[in-house]
Amino acid sequence: MSRNKLFKELFTNIGTTGAITFSSKPLVDKMLSFADFKGAKLLVELGGGDGSITKGIVERMDSDAKLLVFEISRNFCDNLEKMFPQENVIIICDSAENIDKYLDQVKADFILSSLPFSLIPKPIRAQIYRKSKDSVTEEGKFIQICYSYLLKYQFADYFSEIKTSFTLKNFPPAFIMICN
Ligand SMILES: C[S@@+](CC[C@H](N)C(=O)[O-])C[C@H]1O[C@@H](n2cnc3c(N)ncnc32)[C@H](O)[C@@H]1O
Repeated sequence: MSRNKLFKELFTNIGTTGAITFSSKPLVDKMLSFADFKGAKLLVELGGGDGSITKGIVERMDSDAKLLVFEISRNFCDNLEKMFPQENVIIICDSAENIDKYLDQVKADFILSSLPFSLIPKPIRAQIYRKSKDSVTEEGKFIQICYSYLLKYQFADYFSEIKTSFTLKNFPPAFIMICN
């Protein structure tokens, strides 16, 4: 899928994508610097989109690790499947609220999310928070990029420890919330 088509998909679905552009490489690098990929066996990404974060994860993950990518846009999913044909990258064209159905009680080392929580209806958002908390190992982390610091107060209902980071090297500037 060309860059133009990816942007068209982003804009025409702004109500569910919640972004005017994709994450910059500096933002992706900073987000992923909070995850220790060495030895991590199961990784989950929520909101694969154009694959900018997926690419960063794939570059860092162990060869025997598995990555599950949740994305609700069929067009983005088709593109992700072409970009990441490897067997250990599984593109799931379903909402993140169904994460438990695919994990089958196995816990992930990291959940890396760029979901637009401010646009997701409250009951669904609550399910994603709760299931994410339940789906990550005790030492694992749920790492979210977002544009509003206020989301921290929503995460605090589910995660006991939340660290925040910020970068200007993205448009718009973005927060990274590291939760466990
Ligand atoms: C802000 S975009 C991020 C795209 C890309 N990962 C990036 O960082 O640039 C959010 C993505 O989440 C997807 N999305 C929105 N709600 C979702 C849900 N409930 N489950 C899975 N994906 C969802 C959108 O289709 C969109 O691709």
